[in-house]
Amino acid sequence: MATLTVNGTRYDVEAAPDTSLLWVLREHLGLTGTKYGCAAGACGACTVHIDGTAAYACATTLAAVGTSEITTIEGLAPQGEHKLQRAWVAEQVPQCGYCQSGQIMRAAALLAENPAPDRDEIVDYMSPNLCRCGTYNRIVRAIQRAAGEA
Ligand code: FES
Repeated sequence: MATLTVNGTRYDVEAAPDTSLLWVLREHLGLTGTKYGCAAGACGACTVHIDGTAAYACATTLAAVGTSEITTIEGLAPQGEHKLQRAWVAEQVPQCGYCQSGQIMRAAALLAENPAPDRDEIVDYMSPNLCRCGTYNRIVRAIQRAAGEA
């Protein structure tokens, strides 16, 4: 049994220590906003925050999480009104949508570190997160829009 703090709530989870955080979030806690993409640490669809840092949930074991605080897309803002989520809507970013919660979580970590990134900084920081639909230009515009808000 492990105790996990996700989006400010503590959960007792019956899972082996080597179970991936992605599996625990989706299958044990029902937090399906975090997506299962490659499960190999290569696509970024599963991006969450671990103590505020963007991380691949598929490549993180339950044991490695320890007492760290996890934030998923469900916990980014209570009603989905985070400035990045509003910017994503305003810029009509998603196409198929599958990678987008991971994209937003990485973008939120970027703005927490660097509230006014330039285009090159955005592109560089977002590079671990892939989008098969190629929405990259709209992702950059949405991050610039959100960064422009005080
Ligand atoms: Fe985790 Fe692809 S599903 S990086």
